[in-house]
Parts: sequence; structure tokens; C-alpha cells
Amino acid sequence: MTIFGNVLVTVHFTADYLSRGRSKSFRAITLLGMTNNDVLYISKADAEWWRTAVIYQIYPRSFADGNGDGMGDLKGVTTRLESLQELGVDAIWFSPFFKSPQKDAGYDVSDYKDIDPLFGNLADFDELLARAHALGLRIIVDLVPNHSSDQHEWFQAALKSPKGSPEREMYIFRDGKGWFGRKAPNNWPSVFGGSQWTRITEPNGKKGQWYLHIFDSSQPDLNWENERVRDEFDKVLQFWLDRGVDGFRIDVAHGMIKRAGLPDTKTISTEMGGAKAEADMTIEELEVANPYWGQPEVHAINRRWRKIIDSYNDRAMAAEAWVLPLERMARWVRPDEYNQTFNFGYMFAGWNKEAQIKSIEESFEAFGAVGAPSTWVLSNHDTIRHVTRYGMTGNLPQGDGIGPSYAQPDEALGLRKGRASTAFMLGLPGGAYIYQGEELGLPEHTTLEGKYRQDPTYFRTKGERVGRDGCRVPLPWEAGVNESNGFSSTGESWLPQPDSYKRYARDLQRGIAGSTLELYKRLLKERKEHNLGGGNFRWALEFTDEHSLAYVNNGVAVIANFGPEPVQLPAGEVLVTTQVDLTAEHELEHDQVVWIKLS
Ligand code: GLC
Repeated sequence: MTIFGNVLVTVHFTADYLSRGRSKSFRAITLLGMTNNDVLYISKADAEWWRTAVIYQIYPRSFADGNGDGMGDLKGVTTRLESLQELGVDAIWFSPFFKSPQKDAGYDVSDYKDIDPLFGNLADFDELLARAHALGLRIIVDLVPNHSSDQHEWFQAALKSPKGSPEREMYIFRDGKGWFGRKAPNNWPSVFGGSQWTRITEPNGKKGQWYLHIFDSSQPDLNWENERVRDEFDKVLQFWLDRGVDGFRIDVAHGMIKRAGLPDTKTISTEMGGAKAEADMTIEELEVANPYWGQPEVHAINRRWRKIIDSYNDRAMAAEAWVLPLERMARWVRPDEYNQTFNFGYMFAGWNKEAQIKSIEESFEAFGAVGAPSTWVLSNHDTIRHVTRYGMTGNLPQGDGIGPSYAQPDEALGLRKGRASTAFMLGLPGGAYIYQGEELGLPEHTTLEGKYRQDPTYFRTKGERVGRDGCRVPLPWEAGVNESNGFSSTGESWLPQPDSYKRYARDLQRGIAGSTLELYKRLLKERKEHNLGGGNFRWALEFTDEHSLAYVNNGVAVIANFGPEPVQLPAGEVLVTTQVDLTAEHELEHDQVVWIKLS
């Protein structure tokens, strides 16, 4: 495999391409990277499904409501599963549906082996799993091991037990600093705002120790130095594997181990990657600067779990590991660790030519070096939906949302760029993730009033950061049937939809040429047909000019136009395009993408 160096080059286009009637004169490309047409990535030719799978994320609260109470649930999902088979995805990842007081929408688990009554029960889950498997869809569940709910019996027992007891050792309790221990043990900031420490009242009624929580105070961090914690989670993994799940998405897979002595952090960032901004630091410097993210001892846990996963047939686990640069993230997917990790570098690369080149090359280089497939992802439940991000000027920090008083995004621009970026992404070899609703082109809810907000970020920052509710709004299924556009039978909906959602409803797009839903279906169909997930990638300089960018994967050219002028297309069959009515004779307009089967 050849990986490009950072070289400035001049590219001469072949007479063959120039002779295709193109009037615009070509300027030399002087981008970093792209020096030739060498194959950059060769997929491993084996049968491991997760290397190529397209995985659809369901946020259970907001996918479909089966009982009319306004909260999505498992029965609701089961009745709508055919729509995902029709979409053409391979697997579904469920955000947590376990027993939980719902302080962080289920990422605060009080029983890892049961379903929250909001979503149903274990029998509903078994039914869903059986139906999904019958439809050829795999199921991945979300495991939250970094922290439990403060209502978990382990934490309740810790509160009732004395300092230094085995019950307290399940979590991270410390004495405070200063006069009577009134100051938090260190300066770590919670991802959701405020401190990572909360002081408890001891069983004797006096103010006492502090406990650590990277997130909300209702989410105490478990002590992964304690063998009992490790044993308990082995059993949780086995519980779900025995039930037949195909794998796990592991929450905060980079946070479980804290640096010995819990030293102050040097980078007071609330982003999940912490020191992401310190681009000039080495990985070792980042580990010291951020004592609670990406500590090297976490890899022993990864390896322990991988052994469990591999003791079952055909299962996989994906890490939510916000550790950048990608070279660092790739340590989570070495051959005996995770199967996959979310490519957050790509998620935030941006829709422009230079950024796409850089991010794609970095991804192949970093993951290729450890023999792992790259994944590709643009949206999830923690991030402003990508169609909305591309319609905004400026960037918000990860985990922040948009409120009514913010500058509002350009919806049409965002949708055009969003569709193009998805079409560019889905042609790439490796695994891919789709977040529910993006197949409808659904925008973020950007005018949600404070009274509806539920994200702890909103409360912990007193509304300064509005949080992530805007990307978690229930899906519209049938336009205008009721107030929730068919999300529930009653019109109830735990977060209100914005008026625009009616226009995006699934029934208005189904079977309609040019709709975003049909675009996604076609992309996924052609991706499968031409085995692009398992393909070989090279940049295609012969179809690239100053503003366009092209690659070839398994004989399919994927071409994007980032520039103002139209681009002439090479000969071949148009398999799929974001540009309505584009044929091989037409020119590709700006912010449009086409897949062409080369003849
Ligand atoms: C992960 C989840 C996010 C949650 C946090 C705490 O980042 O994706 O939704 O709030 O972990 O569990």
C-alpha cells in the first residue's frame, strides 16, 4: 500500500480527458497529498461483516412510539423494521434502552441487564431481535461502562458504606482539599459543565467525601482499577451475547482509566476529546495533559473484552473513543482490541476538497497501519446534524447545539451539501454509520424552547450551552396524520417537532425520484452491488480538476464538485447521483456528487 507524503505537485491531465469537450482551462493541482493514482487502500478479503457494514443508529426515544405515550419504544421499532430493511442497511445500533432514571437520556444505567419500562421489557427485546434477524439485520447494543446511574444499587450501597469500604471502591471517592475538605480534589471539568466532583453527605449526617463524574452528577464514574468492576462487566457482556446480540457500541471507551494520583488537567476543555485543540502535542504529552482521557492502561480492558467477543461467533464491538489524532485512535482497533471505532476525525473534517483529501488519507493511513477498516460517519445523537452544520457559518464546540437566539442555518444549502457529503462518504471502503433521520435529510431542531430541553448540559451551564436535544427530536413518518407526523398514534412526542418536519416525512419521500430517502436507498443498493465497502481505493486524478475531487473504488468513480463551475463527466453508466436528472452527457453542478460505473 502506498501512502502519500506531503508533497506539492503539479498534475498534467491526459489528452483523453481534455478531449471530452471541456472548455474550461485546467490549472495545476497543488494540494497536499494526491501525487498519483496509486491504490491507497485494499480491503481485507475476508468474511468479517463489520469491516464493510452500514450501521444505522436508532435513538430509541425518537424512532417510533408503539404505545402512544410520546416516547419511542421497542415495540414501535419492531413495527417499523421493514423500513430499515428497505433502506438497505446491514445492522442497527441502539442507543441505551436499559433501566435508567433518564437523567442523560439512558446513558445513566441503573440496571445493565434489564430494559427500562419506558421502552418495554426483555420479551419485547427478544421479539425485536428475532424479527430483525429474520429480516437480515444485525443488532448492536450500547454498553455504558465508564459510569453508572447514581441510582444503581452499587452506588447506593457505596453511599451507605464507610470511607475505604469495598462498596466505595466500586467508584472513585476522594477526600476534598483545603479547610475541612471543602475544595474538590482536583480541577477536572465535567463534559456537561461545572466540576467533575460532587460532595456527599456521609451516613453520619456530616459533609464527607467527593465522588468523580466526568458527566452529570447522576453519573458517578466506576473504578476500573477494581477487579470486581471488571468481573461485573464481563457478566453484562455475556448476558447480552447469550441473548443473541451481534455486538456492542461501547460508550466513552477512552475514559475508563484515570491517571494515577488524579493530577490536575492542563487543558480545561469540555470536549469529549479534551486536548483535541493541542494539535502539536505528542500522544504521550496528550496523555499527561488530559489525565482522564485515553490513558494507556485502558487497552488491557479492550483486550479482555475482545477475548469475550471472540469466544462467540461473528460478534463485534465498536469504540466511542474521542482520541485524536487518528493515529492515537487507531490504538483502540489494534488486532486484539476493538473491531471498529467511530471516525470522529472524518465527522468534523468539513465539506471541502482539501479537508476531504486530508481526512480520507489520514484515515487509511492510521487504521490501515493496524489492519483495521476505517469507519465513516457524519452525524449522531451528540452532534448537530450534518445537513444543519453545513448550512451554518462558523463552528460550535462538539456537544453544543443551536438555540432560538442563535444565527439560524441556511436549510437548503445545508441539505444540498449534506446529501453530497453522504454520497461521497458512502462510496468509501470500510464501515459506515447513519444516524436515524439523516436518510430523510432531517435538519436539526434549531428553535427548541428552553422549557422543552432535557440535556443535562443545558441545566449545568444554566442555558449558556443549549445541549444536544435538537438532534434527538422524534422522526416524522406520515406527514400531517397528527401532530407528531405519525411518530406516535396519538400525536404525542417527548420533544416537539419543528414545523418543517412535516415536509421531510418518510411517506412524502418514498418512491419519489430525487428525494433524499430514495437517494440513500440507491446509494446503499449500489454500494452493496459493487462491494464498495470491501473495495480498493485510489484517487482518480484523471477525473479531478481544480475544484472537483474523484476517487475510484472497485471500478466505480465517485466524483464531487466543490467549485462554482460545472464539471464534465467521464463515460460510463451513472449509478446514482445527488443531482436530480443527471445523465452521463450532462455536467455535474457544484456541491453535487455522482457515482459512475467506468466502462
Ligand atoms: C457518550 C454518549 C453521550 C452521553 C455520554 C455519557 O458520549 O454518546 O450521549 O451523554 O457518553 O454517557
